[in-house]
Amino acid sequence: MATTIPPSVGQRLDADREEGRRKIDWARQHMPIVEALRERFETDQPLAGERIGMAMHVEAKTAALVELLAAGGAEVAITGCNPLSTHNDVSLALDAVDDVTSYAAHGVDEERYYGAMEAVLDHGPTVTVDDGGDLVFTIHEDHPELLDSVVAGTEETTTGVHRLRAMAEDNALEYPVIAVNDTPMKRLFDNVHGTGESALSSIAMTTNLSWAGKTVVVAGFGYCGKGVARKASGQNAHVVVAEVDPRRALEAHMEGYEVLPMAEAAGQGDVFITTTGNRDIIVGEHFEEMADGTILANAGHFNVEIDLDALGDRAVGTDQPREGIEAYEMPDGRQLNVLAEGRLVNLASPVSMGHPVEVMDQSFGIQAVCIRELVDGGYDPGVHDVPDHLDREVAEVKLDAEGIAIDDLTDEQQEYLDSWQHGT
Ligand SMILES: NC(=O)c1ccc[n+]([C@@H]2O[C@H](COP(=O)([O-])OP(=O)(O)OC[C@H]3O[C@@H](n4cnc5c(N)ncnc54)[C@H](O)[C@@H]3O)[C@@H](O)[C@H]2O)c1
Repeated sequence: MATTIPPSVGQRLDADREEGRRKIDWARQHMPIVEALRERFETDQPLAGERIGMAMHVEAKTAALVELLAAGGAEVAITGCNPLSTHNDVSLALDAVDDVTSYAAHGVDEERYYGAMEAVLDHGPTVTVDDGGDLVFTIHEDHPELLDSVVAGTEETTTGVHRLRAMAEDNALEYPVIAVNDTPMKRLFDNVHGTGESALSSIAMTTNLSWAGKTVVVAGFGYCGKGVARKASGQNAHVVVAEVDPRRALEAHMEGYEVLPMAEAAGQGDVFITTTGNRDIIVGEHFEEMADGTILANAGHFNVEIDLDALGDRAVGTDQPREGIEAYEMPDGRQLNVLAEGRLVNLASPVSMGHPVEVMDQSFGIQAVCIRELVDGGYDPGVHDVPDHLDREVAEVKLDAEGIAIDDLTDEQQEYLDSWQHGT
């Protein structure tokens, strides 16, 4: 017997779908690279016959990428790569697009989260598009039968690329994957500016507190950490950096930030933001040192950077003073506030919207040209860099859209640069 949806629920779904559509349309208006590629893809149909499986943060900018891939001829099935980052209205709107199925839903438990991943794989993807590697790992571990039909994949983030490289070193990666994360047009903008801006704005909106005069401890001074530190400093915060890599610690020092081990920084910070991609960055002993009212947020890929088990063990109670904030009450009366359950704050906090649209336009422009490149074949199993000409192609489209002209190398200059014989 067919299920009847009560009219009120049906109307609400329609309204959500329309809201999702508006969000996607707004994003697309500000994504000149994706739109320019869309025109080319519509004409050339480079993805005709491909089935693309995606596990990404399902929000408006990602939807623009999905629509671009579908416009290029692909059938696309997508789910989330984090249970809290999905925007349900966007997921509904995407699901209504021809040749697109979205299984993403916000706040689902582990069983439904992984069930949605399985549902994407049921489409028998020829290409996987990951943010964190979930599809690649699930295929290799649980569905080796799919390896016959998967042609290639792309990976969006640092943590996913690290794991894929480890897999490739063990000769366990059975198809080619392009490390979109590592290319300049992605990493220098998305990780630095995108994470910097969106982590700070999400924390500010979640807490409604000012940065000015605060001490902000940034753990990790990689691409994301640099962006977070720079933007916090730009908002008049005093920035302390905790690092394990001596060169990055020195870089932070030369940028004018205070550098301290976390054990010392713990007692000094008002706000802590982890960006390491590593686990156990803020642990039990650090919580003991923290001041009443401390804010704890993570911007790394997984929720393993702040040891919430240790914090929970120490706490005598918890409270939710605002949406997206869990306040842990310590036995001595201090309150330590964790944002977004320690998941990446710029995507998983209830008010967060992820990276600015322009930044994702670049990242997803790279994704699209890499997928186009991969389905042409010619790549061996393993992790591959984005070919430089594709990185340049996307940069040129963006400069063109911004109306920015640059100089060309003259033949003499090119010859000079290429020659080892020119000297003093
Ligand atoms: N929030 C987002 O939207 C977003 C965007 C891009 C990347 N990411 C994720 O952010 C994380 C960092 O990415 P990245 O590109 O900056 O990586 P990265 O490798 O450039 O930087 C990580 C830094 O953390 C440092 N580090 C590692 N262990 C540490 C420890 N115990 N204490 C202090 N520092 C430590 C490393 O030395 C390195 O300098 C990854 O998990 C990545 O997937 C998140």
